[in-house]
Amino acid sequence: MNDAPAQGFDAGWLALREPFDAAARDGRLAACFVEAVAARAVRRQATDGSVPQACRLVDLAAGTGANVRLLAPRVGGGQDWLLVDHDPVLIAAQPRVLAAWAAGHGWPARAEGDALVIDAPAGPWRIRSVALDLQRSLDRLDLDGIDGVTTTAFLDLVSDDWLERFCDRIVAARVPLLATLTVDGRRDWHPPGPDDGSLAVAFERHQQGDKGFGPSLGPGAVDALVARLQARGYRTQCALADWQVDGASPAMLLRMVEECAAVAREADPDRAPLFDRWEALRRAQAQSGSLRLCVGHRDLLALPARDD
Ligand SMILES: C[S@@+](CC[C@H](N)C(=O)[O-])C[C@H]1O[C@@H](n2cnc3c(N)ncnc32)[C@H](O)[C@@H]1O
Repeated sequence: MNDAPAQGFDAGWLALREPFDAAARDGRLAACFVEAVAARAVRRQATDGSVPQACRLVDLAAGTGANVRLLAPRVGGGQDWLLVDHDPVLIAAQPRVLAAWAAGHGWPARAEGDALVIDAPAGPWRIRSVALDLQRSLDRLDLDGIDGVTTTAFLDLVSDDWLERFCDRIVAARVPLLATLTVDGRRDWHPPGPDDGSLAVAFERHQQGDKGFGPSLGPGAVDALVARLQARGYRTQCALADWQVDGASPAMLLRMVEECAAVAREADPDRAPLFDRWEALRRAQAQSGSLRLCVGHRDLLALPARDD
């Protein structure tokens, strides 16, 4: 869910959502992506004769590096990651958050030049960060020799124009893409409430607002990307990746309630009293453990039509 009213994606919020993302993500698509990345790395190394063997991955809109934490152990072997984000605070947090994650697994982490190197048994994993505004500077992203591109909880922020440019870059590089956790517009509160419909209308309006890229695609992003990539010969597969949040996670529920109400008030200030009432009811339910929420997301795997 990408609905922070001020479009702030603070590290605390990313940490809160990370376990829900991890539980929701489609394992089969991740496994196919990992396989495609490994195969491409082998082919690349056979062509350019490079040693030692390390897969090269780029994560776009990386936040604090959740994709590394989820995928590096699955990819296995040596890896070079480039984490791209425009937020200097999140960029600065990446080495600290990743080193703490490594320490939690008993894996040493050290700074080496501009990289953090994690010496996991299946590693080493060399992780670099770059501050880049993907709206303004997508052209500066170098995908030459990259074995896989990932992005999570990002594509619903972008515009149709930007998606076209992004698609151009992916297709030109003939690189596998794993784009996970893009919202698809479903959001079901249980038990249902009388004002859910009004909230949903305001919420949807906000989702299609400008998140820094022009009018955002919101829930239409995955379909728009699939259509473009297929038209250019990519093979695509999608899977549902829904958040299931129940009474055992009151902090997450409260955060979602607060953000949904704030977003709705921002989108439709005239109905603020109704959204206040909705928020009060949902807060009480979250605190008593009687609230559940399902947020719809989709994962997308896209692979070049032929191996090269
Ligand atoms: C919902 S967060 C997801 C972060 C991370 N992928 C994760 O799963 O934890 C969206 C991310 O998009 C980044 N972002 C938004 N606009 C951007 C832009 N114009 N250029 C680069 N990154 C951007 C934010 O800084 C934030 O890290």
